[in-house]
Amino acid sequence: MTQIKIFDTTLRDGEQSPGVNLNQLEKLEIAKQLERLGIDIMEAGFPASSQGDFDAVKKIAETVENVTITALARANRKDIDRAWEAIKDAKKKRIHVFIATSPIHMEYKLKKTPEEVMATSVEMVQYAKAKGTDVEWSAEDASRSELPFLAKIIEKVIDAGATVINLPDTVGYTTPKEYGEMFRYIKANVPNIEKVDLSCHCHDDLGMAIANSIAAMQNGATQIEGTINGIGERAGNASLEEIAVALKIREDFYPYHTNMVLNEIKRTSDLVSKFTGMIVPGNKAIVGRNAFAHESGIHQDGVLKHAQTYEIITPELVGIQSNNLVLGKHSGRHAFKDKIEQLGFELTEEKLTEAFQAFKLLTDRKKEVTDDDLFVILTDIQTDI
Ligand code: KIV
Ligand code: ZN
Repeated sequence: MTQIKIFDTTLRDGEQSPGVNLNQLEKLEIAKQLERLGIDIMEAGFPASSQGDFDAVKKIAETVENVTITALARANRKDIDRAWEAIKDAKKKRIHVFIATSPIHMEYKLKKTPEEVMATSVEMVQYAKAKGTDVEWSAEDASRSELPFLAKIIEKVIDAGATVINLPDTVGYTTPKEYGEMFRYIKANVPNIEKVDLSCHCHDDLGMAIANSIAAMQNGATQIEGTINGIGERAGNASLEEIAVALKIREDFYPYHTNMVLNEIKRTSDLVSKFTGMIVPGNKAIVGRNAFAHESGIHQDGVLKHAQTYEIITPELVGIQSNNLVLGKHSGRHAFKDKIEQLGFELTEEKLTEAFQAFKLLTDRKKEVTDDDLFVILTDIQTDI
């Protein structure tokens, strides 16, 4: 089995979904849940984009211990300094420097020649590396870049110290065959490529982000980037939960392993949906409310006789409990604690007591306390971090 590293960018590319704006508390809660989910690298934000994002990345870097914390930076000194300031206290850290390499981006957006883009990349990777951290370099719009240029610039940034090379399909334009061939070309034409992690980063504009990510992996990618629930710019990014479960369910076909703790998927999805306000479509693979529902009589009959007639994934695998615990005035502290953990919150005993008292007060006014009510209580309790 080949080990695949999972790079989660829910807090950066995911937050770039139109209309999404996470505060520090929300980012921290999601970060803690992502750690429980077992991802390897977390892109906590883009510190140069705002003071709020800088503060959130810094707080995450100081809190989350078992995941490499990375921050995004354009290929300039100011962004790299800002990223470094935000992540420097993390136990495991990485600066992620990106610059566009496609003709259309270099000419119209950057107004730079390919030679200038190459020189800037080398200089900025060296600059980031000199901070004493791991450096990932991304060729924005790689899938529309010219392959010989891409191979040359990758060779140079590896020499400059980059340890991860990411080749994004920034506009979700590529196809599995084409994207796979790009990875194969880079593997065959870049000296020292086996010394770095090769990464894919797919957007879903044509609905091919998962297929493209898998094609990249089959052609040498050792890191997959994506988000929870597939949120992100425009049509979003590859859904990490879909990739992890597909690899598990079809391990007969895909000899790849990730560290993702699959039964943490549902609560991570719920937490991200709640805080971002991005509702998960009912028919979304793995985490949609209909993903494990059976409607037609024929299907129901089949499932009653043998679940696998129409169910290729068990709900338990991804952390969906078949029973539903309803919280009301007769519920005790144990059920309450269990429920809030299902929602992805981890409280100290003191905070738990405070939250439980607030919950009990509410049960005098409401028959059934919903997840929405609990989110309000828990967010209130934790705002003093
Ligand atoms: O899609 C993209 O190209 C990106 C880069 C910043 C990595 O998100
Ligand atoms: Zn992206």
